[in-house]
Amino acid sequence: MSADDFKRAAAAAAAQLVEPDMVLGLGTGSTAAHFISLLGERVRDGLYVAAVPTSEDTAKRAALAGIELVEPDEATIIDLAVDGADEVDGRKQLIKGGGGALLREKIIANAARRFVVIADASKKVAELGAFPLPVEIDRFSYGLTVRAVREALIALGFADADVRLRASTVGPAFISDGGNFILDCRLKRLPDAPAVDRALKAIPGVVETGLFIGLADVVILAGPAGVERIG
Ligand code: A5P
Repeated sequence: MSADDFKRAAAAAAAQLVEPDMVLGLGTGSTAAHFISLLGERVRDGLYVAAVPTSEDTAKRAALAGIELVEPDEATIIDLAVDGADEVDGRKQLIKGGGGALLREKIIANAARRFVVIADASKKVAELGAFPLPVEIDRFSYGLTVRAVREALIALGFADADVRLRASTVGPAFISDGGNFILDCRLKRLPDAPAVDRALKAIPGVVETGLFIGLADVVILAGPAGVERIG
């Protein structure tokens, strides 16, 4: 089986948690896309759900799959949010934002009664940090924010922190759905992810970090050994 098959297997396990009339949060990325496609099959079979998308891309996919979309402000309750991750550790801490949707993903994950993470087993790590940490920043005077991020990371002990503005194939820099830039911070190891999250979020200009701490209720990982559930 390929990594894509494992992503679909994790998504299929999460799809079993969906019940009629739920309001769902729909994540972004290739694993979340499998979940949307499987959910669409159930909707075509008569299941009624409504969903809040975490990106423009997900909104398009969900609409094509026949899933009814609601504006986040109209959804007073989000029963279940399902999303992928770039890295997951044994404490259900995550790095997200490889696809650039981290801000909306975090807003919806935080608002949901239950947040379920789906991934192929290669995303599981003993310690977060090998995947570059995405940080969403306001575009105003972004050079000052980049400098402040770098200085905060150095103060935390990341002497060789490599902080880069995410590039784009269609313009000089990647711009998120919310109109912000993304920094990718190559830190290699994150022994104290909450401390990094707190320090970065204290910087004016930082909108949100890709560290999802204490948000995931359940992590579903699929790999050659089968489906593993944490939480
Ligand atoms: C999107 O911004 C990300 O947080 C994705 O959830 C994450 O990058 C996982 O993507 P894949 O499912 O494509 O690996």
